[in-house]
Amino acid sequence: MDVSDNSDFRASCATASRLSRSKRYRKRGPMSRTQKLFPTLVYSAPLVRGRWRPFNARLKRECLRLREDDGAGRAWSAENYPGGYTSYSSVSRMHRMSPTFAELESKVSTHVKAYARALAFDLAGRRLAMTDCWVNIMARHVVHGLHLHPLSTISGTYYVQVPRGGPGIKLEDPRLDRFMAAPPRRARASRPWVELPAEEGRLILFESWLRHEVPPNRRAAERISISFNYSWF
Ligand code: NI
Repeated sequence: MDVSDNSDFRASCATASRLSRSKRYRKRGPMSRTQKLFPTLVYSAPLVRGRWRPFNARLKRECLRLREDDGAGRAWSAENYPGGYTSYSSVSRMHRMSPTFAELESKVSTHVKAYARALAFDLAGRRLAMTDCWVNIMARHVVHGLHLHPLSTISGTYYVQVPRGGPGIKLEDPRLDRFMAAPPRRARASRPWVELPAEEGRLILFESWLRHEVPPNRRAAERISISFNYSWF
């Protein structure tokens, strides 16, 4: 991307040039400044404004029915997702199979557009489209280990059912493998892992290269979520 298209970059250049021309600069030399560069943007919002429970209840019914019907998914989960169920390897395009999930796709896409604007993506006339959409059901003690979503642009999760005190989503600082003699940090947002709470009716979006995991569900009730990927076409 051409950096001249980036308004933040232009603004910081303008500020730098104003500073270097200022009287204070000429007298005392450059003032010290600490800038935030290369931030990692993570998006979170309620899926819809207003009444969300009826739509959420429809999604929940379909998630539970899918688990009943999807023998291949249950077998795959027994091997790869002990104690839990995911349709990741069996029915991974729910938005093409169910009108309810197609409606979810349309609602999520509005948020993806807003997130892409915040990321200052220059989509060059192409579009971001949902490629995968699958169901995850985590019973007690089930965990989803650290991973990322290769070959996608934006990924995210919508929370259908989260038991009180259930696990959120733990995100890893993408610079972690470069920290060498760096001391620990006090600020929550500057720690190498940050857990965002999972809340029913909300979605979280992040760039697909950002590693994340779901810590163990310590509650008796199941945690139900729907995950998805968007690619740039
Ligand atoms: Ni994931």
